[in-house]
Amino acid sequence: MRITYGQDHEKYAQAVQDGTKKIRWVGEHMPLLKETEVGLMQDMSFKGMKIALCIHLEAKTARLCEVLKAGGADMYIAGSNPLSTQDDVAAALVAQGMTVYASHNCSGEQYVEDLKAVLKHAPDIVIDDGGDLLDILHNDEAFTEIAANVKGGCEETTTGITRLIALQQAKKLMFPMVAVNDAVCKNLCDNRYGTGQSVWTAITATTNLSLVGKTAVVAGYGNCGKGVAMRAKGLGMQVIVTEVQHLPALEAMMDGFTVMSMNQAAKYGDFFITVTGCKDVITPEHFILMKHGAVCCNAGHFDCEVDVAGLKDMCIEHDELRPNVHGYVIEDADGTNKRIDILADGRLVNLASGDGHPAEIMDVSFTLQTLSAQFIAKNDFKAQLPPNAPPEARIAGILQVPQQVDAAVARSILENNGCVIDALTREQMEYITGKPITDTDMELQEPLGVNDVAENSEAVPIEKPENQMKLVSKKKPRK
Ligand SMILES: NC(=O)c1ccc[n+]([C@@H]2O[C@H](COP(=O)([O-])OP(=O)(O)OC[C@H]3O[C@@H](n4cnc5c(N)ncnc54)[C@H](O)[C@@H]3O)[C@@H](O)[C@H]2O)c1
Repeated sequence: MRITYGQDHEKYAQAVQDGTKKIRWVGEHMPLLKETEVGLMQDMSFKGMKIALCIHLEAKTARLCEVLKAGGADMYIAGSNPLSTQDDVAAALVAQGMTVYASHNCSGEQYVEDLKAVLKHAPDIVIDDGGDLLDILHNDEAFTEIAANVKGGCEETTTGITRLIALQQAKKLMFPMVAVNDAVCKNLCDNRYGTGQSVWTAITATTNLSLVGKTAVVAGYGNCGKGVAMRAKGLGMQVIVTEVQHLPALEAMMDGFTVMSMNQAAKYGDFFITVTGCKDVITPEHFILMKHGAVCCNAGHFDCEVDVAGLKDMCIEHDELRPNVHGYVIEDADGTNKRIDILADGRLVNLASGDGHPAEIMDVSFTLQTLSAQFIAKNDFKAQLPPNAPPEARIAGILQVPQQVDAAVARSILENNGCVIDALTREQMEYITGKPITDTDMELQEPLGVNDVAENSEAVPIEKPENQMKLVSKKKPRK
């Protein structure tokens, strides 16, 4: 571990104790991961393997690291954002014999050095959140040889998938990556409901302000934006949604929200939340239109959605008003002064100024991560290609989380919540499929448990990654 506590052994021991308590608390609320851990301890799927992991380093991620270690892995860990790293949690992992390169609020340069330090251990499996590890492996020549020996990996978030698609399209991706973000359970539980809850928890805890009757402007109506907008409505707020695509904008309107451009919405908002995966969503042209005391924050992966540097340039003065609340005084159009407040320096607010998603939500995401890593560990996708495969086919590309994994996780969540569902009878199946159903067909309908799926799943590449949001002209080019 990079030394955060210097020679202060007492402080380090206290940090280990505090971090361990945090991990034990969330662990109690992560039953799927517990079930997976029991299976992994018998199976030892990761025995002799090194796993490099870069995810927001707090208690729930630490629990994921414990489970992977229980499956036999040597763990090498970095945080995916300096502000979300919790030093006591990192210390607790070090005390368990894991290698950690991370410290809270370190510089940008140190952050990159930490990622490189993790990769220098030559991992077999890479678990990434946002694509920074993959970026170094594919774009820094010093790491080409290490990248060539990586068996595969998993990506946690939407922004990381976008970067993976770019690598694949450039025919540079050197090993198979499972798109954990795109699993049905991940999108639903984590992106929508997890972000919906944790963003508002972080905003209220950071500002200590009331929400009722105020106006929230949510930029982006993807999976995360839907959760943030839905919870804002439930908390008694008026909600305006801004978008750049017509279909999600239409969905927002049909869901009962007001849809506007950011230029129109700027003057109405009390709270602004960007969650787009894009850059420059709120810029000086919008700050100038905002009310005095408007609060802006970001829940997208990178801190480029709210132009905090632009606000700093245009401000008369700025000050930290409360922890993680920075006020910028700017001149209004009528010559008077007003203040715009930025939370967590524009970094993703629920992690940089909060504890992230609830434990039960990360239980789902991290069980998907564990099973996807196990799926990579148990299969040799590189070897499965024909010997005469063209160079660009030597990779298995970006893989879906197997449907069986998604189904097993959904089943386990429901069971843990005491929910029972009906099963199709043979007659119902024949009615739906229009075919006779055999005993074997009936047996195949039996759902698999989380500890059976990694071996019984097939690799399916994600279809047509180029079908992601296209930045093309809305008109056909003239012939
Ligand atoms: N805070 C968290 O805990 C958390 C959790 C999961 C994902 N994320 C991150 O949140 C971001 C969004 O994820 P998602 O899964 O909702 O993505 P998504 O692709 O489902 O949705 C993004 C939406 O933003 C819209 N958009 C893009 N640029 C815009 C702009 N300039 N103005 C307004 N709208 C714009 C897109 O049209 C799209 O509908 C990503 O960066 C992702 O990595 C954060």
